[in-house]
Amino acid sequence: MKKREGFGSRFGLLAASIGSAVGLGNIWRFPYIAGEYGGGAFLVVYLLIVAFIGLPLMMSEFMIGRMGGKDAIGSFKELAPKKHWYISGVLGVLAAFFILSYYGVVAGWTLEYIVNSATNRFAGKNSEEITNLFVGFISHPIKPIIWQVLFMFITGLIVSTGVQDGIEKFAKIMVPMLFIIIVILDIQALRLPGGMEGFKFLFKPDFSKIDSKVILGALGHAFYSLSLGMGIMITYGSYMSGDEDLGKTALQISIADTLIALLAGLAIFPAVFSYGVDPTSGAGLVFMTLPNVFPKMPGGYFFGVMFFVLLALAALTSTISLLEVVVAFLVDSFNVERKKAAVLSTIVITIVGVFASLSNGPLSEFLIFGDNIFDFLDKTTANYFLTTAALISVIFLGWFHNQEKVSDQITNEGSLKVGYSGIFNSLVKYVLPVGIILVFLYQIDIFGQI
Ligand code: PHE
Repeated sequence: MKKREGFGSRFGLLAASIGSAVGLGNIWRFPYIAGEYGGGAFLVVYLLIVAFIGLPLMMSEFMIGRMGGKDAIGSFKELAPKKHWYISGVLGVLAAFFILSYYGVVAGWTLEYIVNSATNRFAGKNSEEITNLFVGFISHPIKPIIWQVLFMFITGLIVSTGVQDGIEKFAKIMVPMLFIIIVILDIQALRLPGGMEGFKFLFKPDFSKIDSKVILGALGHAFYSLSLGMGIMITYGSYMSGDEDLGKTALQISIADTLIALLAGLAIFPAVFSYGVDPTSGAGLVFMTLPNVFPKMPGGYFFGVMFFVLLALAALTSTISLLEVVVAFLVDSFNVERKKAAVLSTIVITIVGVFASLSNGPLSEFLIFGDNIFDFLDKTTANYFLTTAALISVIFLGWFHNQEKVSDQITNEGSLKVGYSGIFNSLVKYVLPVGIILVFLYQIDIFGQI
């Protein structure tokens, strides 16, 4: 049998997982919800959630992958043959497939915006014109698709080259670059007149804003931000060696993910406040608000281009991890050759994505349960697939798997001296299932969104 691929170095595996976790969510969502829902107070809540729910869930996924030694579905089948736990993996692979189909579209937008800022297309435009530029672009029947296809092609190319020579090699370059770009943008932003307002927006604690809805919102965001519930960390876990300290790895990834989200906020909000624009979140913030700010800023041309390069890099390391979930499944479970698996899945996912892109324009009248294709894919995967996949996997790990084997994963068969195996077991048994069910109820809007 051919030797299975794996990560070649600790830095490589960290870079690949941090690359997956750091995505558009860190840049366009976290800073805004943090600022709007309690600043420093929100941060305390978020950190507690990452520590007690995000981190152990990530460790659980790594373990399932490392013990099973296969893709997200195959690993469950190895660990529990003839049982149905692998359905968690099926949901994960489907989630990765569908998320990538529309994430690839948004990722393509970032390329158009690199070109827009490099060719100075925002200069001299008022905010209405900038909004029209964006709306006109995403509803265009062809332009966004060209960028999407290009982005997916790059993703497919990197994944087809392999875990070590493709994913790991590129992550080792892209993740440090991303860090450097954010820090440069931070230094610039904090020097802007009135930039401190943005700093205050992000950090000034307001405990009166914290209610159960905000806590659940933070929980849902942590989930998405750490790329949990979609088979990614199971797949990456299966490429880790037996002497990797899983707890330490998950901790470092969680810290890096949160740190980058904060640094992104520090780059964006001082600029937004300094130029008196209203803060928003999501696509509106990066594609409609910020293009108003850059042309007004000293050196804005340079910083604008840098910002969209940052966005594209953050998206690319995430699309790579999503594609790898699907490719690993074809390679491990069907013995398809990696290159073929990468080409095939890239093509099919891109085609689904084309419909998602068209649903912002020519196909906008075509609705599924009241949403266009793009929103439907986003909502179904985020609301149902991720949470269900994660719930099934922690119930399996906490209640139906040999707990000694779980502890062995934490201590690497006794070679690491760590004292938290017991705490980990109770978190997985009780805290995680309850937390995940709450996220689920929140996401299907039982409590109303924040
Ligand atoms: N974690 C990424 C973010 O914060 C999003 C993502 C979701 C990446 C799903 C991969 C898979 O933006």
